[in-house]
Amino acid sequence: MKKIVVLTGAGISAESGVKTFRDSGGLWEEHRVEDVATYNAWLNNQDLVLEFYNQRRKQLYDVKPNVAHFALAELEKKYDVQIITQNVDDLHERGGSTKILHLHGELKKSRSTIDENLIYEIEGWELKKGDTCEKGSQLRPHIVWFGEAVPNIVPAARMSENADIYLVIGTSLNVYPAAGLLNYVPGNVPKYLIDPNASTVAGIRNLTIIKEKAGIGLPKLVKELMKE
Ligand code: OAD
Repeated sequence: MKKIVVLTGAGISAESGVKTFRDSGGLWEEHRVEDVATYNAWLNNQDLVLEFYNQRRKQLYDVKPNVAHFALAELEKKYDVQIITQNVDDLHERGGSTKILHLHGELKKSRSTIDENLIYEIEGWELKKGDTCEKGSQLRPHIVWFGEAVPNIVPAARMSENADIYLVIGTSLNVYPAAGLLNYVPGNVPKYLIDPNASTVAGIRNLTIIKEKAGIGLPKLVKELMKE
């Protein structure tokens, strides 16, 4: 079975009604990264950080996977599909994909502040001050904040090296190390980038750019790939 590796970003969830970060009207226009998405923010204002992620999590209960998520699940009928997502939502899971690596964490999980190996499912949408891990420390959102290490980048790079076909969907390719994953994909491997605002990516060979929304461009591409 050929291996398709898919790197996704906020754009794939946009048509489900989840805001992206850097588009006009995106999350980083309403909130400063330094206030809600860094470890310093957590030290300075836990209430604000908890509230920011509580609101994101609450919204997850109101949204559904869209045709782009379902199209990726469809690909599994013919290919070994590995998704590497920068998204913290669970729409790939709910769309039916089975192999998903989250690079930036998961909204529906919390993590101990003294032992990073203690990770829990959050019941409902709210993580509160006073919610503690089994060792008694405050739980934080299981999110990789700016300035923090990205442990899953190591398996993600290995997956990218071993792809037979590589898809990149709905990411501005602004945030490293995720944006650097394309550099691990061998030059001869066919690559497709689906994003209405995509531009060429320097130094990447065999890249087909599809300037369409994921909900339009991806089902068409999946149809082609299913014929191959
Ligand atoms: P961005 O907000 O930077 O980029 C979203 C991309 O989605 C843009 O290139 C849009 O053109 C594209 N887009 C918008 N609507 C789309 C649609 N319907 N179909 C396809 N593409 C569409 O989001 P990311 O690249 O995912 O990290 O951002 C990367 C990381 O930065 C996030 O994981 C998050 C953020 O800060 C953390 O919070 C750690």
